[in-house]
Amino acid sequence: MLSKEQNQLLTQTDRGTPMGELMRRYWLPALLSEEIPAPDCPPVQVRLLGEDLVAFRDTNGRIGLLAEACSHRGTSLFYGRNEEGGLRCIYHGWKYDAEGRVLDTPAEPAGSTFRQRVSHPAYPTREVGGMVFAYMGPPEREPLFPAYEWAGLPAEQCYATKAIQDCNYLQGLEGECDSSHLSFLHRSFRFELPSDTAPRYETEDTDFGVRLIALRDAPGGATYVRVSSFILPVACAVPVGRGGTSLDTSEGYEVHFYTPIDDTHSARFDFGFNRRRPIEPDEPVRRRAIGPGYRRFANAANHYLQDREKQRTENYTGMTDFGFGSFLAHDSCATESMGPLYDRSREHLGVSDLGVISVRRRLLDVVQAFQRGEQPAHVVTEPARNVMTHVTSFAEISDAANWRAEYPGLASSAEEARADVPGHARVSVASR
Ligand code: FES
Ligand SMILES: [Fe+2]
Repeated sequence: MLSKEQNQLLTQTDRGTPMGELMRRYWLPALLSEEIPAPDCPPVQVRLLGEDLVAFRDTNGRIGLLAEACSHRGTSLFYGRNEEGGLRCIYHGWKYDAEGRVLDTPAEPAGSTFRQRVSHPAYPTREVGGMVFAYMGPPEREPLFPAYEWAGLPAEQCYATKAIQDCNYLQGLEGECDSSHLSFLHRSFRFELPSDTAPRYETEDTDFGVRLIALRDAPGGATYVRVSSFILPVACAVPVGRGGTSLDTSEGYEVHFYTPIDDTHSARFDFGFNRRRPIEPDEPVRRRAIGPGYRRFANAANHYLQDREKQRTENYTGMTDFGFGSFLAHDSCATESMGPLYDRSREHLGVSDLGVISVRRRLLDVVQAFQRGEQPAHVVTEPARNVMTHVTSFAEISDAANWRAEYPGLASSAEEARADVPGHARVSVASR
């Protein structure tokens, strides 16, 4: 349970709020690369942390992320012309480059230097793994992009999807840090997830966020180990295996981001990668559940397409998942039906909510430290500290008496990780 004040502190992200200022210190996924696929393609509207922006790809392929309202008299640049190295407002022709510089004010007298005195709000971007990340904080504080193991992979080994959520970012994020819902919300009566026994939960604070561990007894005295990572400020690395099994994550995992659109909407970005091979076209199963405008086919307006007969006979929710493993409808129903901004002073948390509790506490600690003027955790500015091998996720069966001995890469900080082997490397037992 959170007090109303704590709930407000964690969930409000407009400019000027503590969490809003904290979020602006990180690289956040803003849109998918596919939304602005080619040079000079149409611009798109992007709303982030309560700010209305427009994204475009210029003639040279550079991405601009600008305030949507033209600096002249406020017309939306979304309707602008993307031409010859800049975006031109349709009202009086002011033209902006990707950095927000005003290149042209054609209605002003020849020789006017007026344009040089205008600076239009623009944010730097990085394109990684099919997503466009934005940094919306003070320019002099721009951090390095974290050196996650997936950040340097070729595009064909990555996939990313986006779906709009009609609720605050924290509701979605908490769902990712909540291992116990797997045995209920996503249960199918046609196959069993390895979840028959009550799991034992452990969490540990790390420099990137919180490591979340769920341990279950497996046959023959073995242990089913599920490790997720909450990554500050809005992501969770989760062990979603390839080929429809939750047991083989040796090839990669997924990272789910919940970027605040505003306080009552968020954009869920699901990123996945394969360490060894290109992604097959039908592998990103979640795509089947998402329609035009990145809206899910199953949503609150149609009761998430719930079918009560299916609920009796096929799966726990009675909702289609548009192909095994998408789960989007289930998660969205669970988190959106709490309301657009859940009041956490009304909840009752149990032992199985340890993950949610730990993640909230870590976020509260980080935002309160930030309010005291401290540098936020997981904002990396020195190349020597940009080590992320300990940010990982997997689900495997361990035969070892002490499962941890098989995963020496689970360090708690970049310093420790630097001296270590990669977190995903299994030292003694091949994954099955
Ligand atoms: S409002 Fe954009 S050029 Fe005048
Ligand atoms: Fe889920």
